[in-house]
Amino acid sequence: MLKTRFTELFGVEHPIAQGGMQWVGRAELVAGVANGGGLGFITALTQPTPEDLAKEIKKCQGLTDKPFGVNLTILPALKPPPYEEYRQAIIDSGVKIVETAGNNPADHIVEFKKAGVKVIHKCTAVRHALKAEKMGADAISIDGFECAGHPGEDDIPGLILIPAAADKVKIPMIASGGFGDARGLVAALALGAEGINMGTRFMATAESPIHQKVKEQIVENDERATDLIFRTLRNTARVARNEVSQEVVAIERKGNAKIEDIAHLVAGARGKVVYEEGDPNYGIWSAGMVQGLIHDVPTCGELISRIVTEAEAIIASRLGGMTGKASAQAAE
Ligand SMILES: Cc1cc2nc3c(=O)[nH]c(=O)nc-3n(C[C@H](O)[C@H](O)[C@H](O)COP(=O)(O)O)c2cc1C
Repeated sequence: MLKTRFTELFGVEHPIAQGGMQWVGRAELVAGVANGGGLGFITALTQPTPEDLAKEIKKCQGLTDKPFGVNLTILPALKPPPYEEYRQAIIDSGVKIVETAGNNPADHIVEFKKAGVKVIHKCTAVRHALKAEKMGADAISIDGFECAGHPGEDDIPGLILIPAAADKVKIPMIASGGFGDARGLVAALALGAEGINMGTRFMATAESPIHQKVKEQIVENDERATDLIFRTLRNTARVARNEVSQEVVAIERKGNAKIEDIAHLVAGARGKVVYEEGDPNYGIWSAGMVQGLIHDVPTCGELISRIVTEAEAIIASRLGGMTGKASAQAAE
């Protein structure tokens, strides 16, 4: 058992979260994580309407009696989704934990807190973590440059970002980006976090609702198999390297690229087809550098229990051995 302020705050067994994932964070995966003792998040905007989100939450409630949450990603958009309605659907469904991400969560935090919902805000900079703490967030998920999705524009890897945040943030904080095994969990705890958040690693699990061929591609890929797109638009995204991402990077490298120049390549609908039909080169899909540490497709329960068991062994034997504590305990 690894008991931390994160497990205490959210009432889960293990200090492992599955962050929101567009097209992937559906009821089956989230319930798999919850039943494995972790904290999973349904991705609100994967559901076309707030009514569909309410149905997905209900489905998840039917698959687990353990705590789970919903991710509400606040995107900069010309035509934003009806965020207030999604928020209300979450509150009305009785979900008590929300992961906010993508932008300033101020208005949402106020409303969620009124409804007794705990908020974990995911961000990529110490200054944003401190701001969310001031706004009343209950916890922080700090996402390093290694992560899949949006790493921000500061390019600070977890090895620096996590302890830099831990030095200043007072509320419980978990580390995100690049985590996939027990070594990462122990490192995160050593760096001052209270647990880890994983995205890419949970894509390659039995319960993950994506095509088997995409899971196999993640297993096959190594740590170099990502690209950073939208750098020139200052909206960087780390995605799985494929023919389409390479084309986008090539267009951006020419300079002065506008969204219109790449829109046909990066359409979210094409990424959705990748997950549904299993052609990894059909469109843009998110994955992180941690692909280099993913070698199998276990169930969520197997994965979580493996990470925790091995983490305990690393702490007790490997690290304990270095301080002489492991041998002292064995001799007792
Ligand atoms: C396929 C995929 C889709 C994602 N979509 C979202 C999203 O919609 N909202 C969000 O806040 N984070 C999203 N993320 C980021 C994850 O929640 C998490 O922060 C990130 O994956 C951590 O890095 P890792 O993949 O190295 O574990 C996504 C990640 C992946 C892999």
